[in-house]
Amino acid sequence: MAAARQDPIWIVGAGGLGREALEAARAAGTPVAGFLDDRSIDSRSPADRSFDHFDRFDAVGPLGPLGLAKRDERDPAAIGRPDRGSAGRSPGGGTVRGLPVLDPAAIPAGAAYLIAIADPGARRRLTERLLAAGARPAEPLVDPRAVLAGGVELAAGCLVLAGAVLSCEARLGPHSQVHYNATVGHDALLGAWVTVCPGANVSGGVQLADGATVGGNAVVLGGRTVGEDALVGAAAVVTRDVAPRTVVVGSPARALRRR
Ligand SMILES: CC(C)(COP(=O)(O)OP(=O)(O)OC[C@H]1O[C@@H](n2cnc3c(N)ncnc32)[C@H](O)[C@@H]1OP(=O)(O)O)[C@@H](O)C(=O)NCCC(=O)NCCS
Repeated sequence: MAAARQDPIWIVGAGGLGREALEAARAAGTPVAGFLDDRSIDSRSPADRSFDHFDRFDAVGPLGPLGLAKRDERDPAAIGRPDRGSAGRSPGGGTVRGLPVLDPAAIPAGAAYLIAIADPGARRRLTERLLAAGARPAEPLVDPRAVLAGGVELAAGCLVLAGAVLSCEARLGPHSQVHYNATVGHDALLGAWVTVCPGANVSGGVQLADGATVGGNAVVLGGRTVGEDALVGAAAVVTRDVAPRTVVVGSPARALRRR
């Protein structure tokens, strides 16, 4: 019997993570209708811009012999990854990887969206707009190159990238993300809007409250709790619970500031 045809999803965010989500969708055989992005090309963050030029090896412009441009030499018109010949300067518009980029307000009613933006606050705000526009969160998008153990539960809108490992009975709330090569231990409980950055190691029984972020290569030791909207800095080692809305860095992790 033929498999049921899946409705195409819209990827929200046409930056670096958006393209990574597209890779996951293509590997998973999930059809993608296009991208939604309300940022003009010129207003994107330096972090997003820093991803962009890696796709521009074949572009014309002030590029060195290997196609690498210094940060301050990059062509702002190329930021946002518009394909060649696209306008792409205003919110939405143009194409990325051959797919249309629309303003989020243009999402068709009833369409499914997957937010591919690392910042939990931005994911919250955008989902409110998209739900108000009559859209619905997509089924969890899991790259088939990730490993999911038995008993793992994923809520709608979750994104799991290649190389991630989710151990037994790990549970992820709506719109949570586990990026490349990150590990989520057994019985870990992730709330809504949680981001686990590449290479991070969230140990068994850890609880990450709504909106928490664990930075790249950070470690959260077993059973600890990271509070709501808290941020664990890159490569930190969390040995004690982290209070809500607190940024911690270092090993052992100590508070740097409030958010
Ligand atoms: C923790 C973090 C949010 C701090 O950002 P910030 O508030 O802009 O802080 P600053 O860059 O101004 O740095 C403030 C101080 O903290 C230190 N610091 C920043 N990040 C640090 C980290 N991860 N580990 C140790 N020290 C760190 C800086 O060296 C600086 O110290 P100084 O005052 O002695 O010079 C950020 O550095 C970080 O680690 N983000 C995680 C990003 C990530 O993992 N991305 C993965 C890809 S999704």
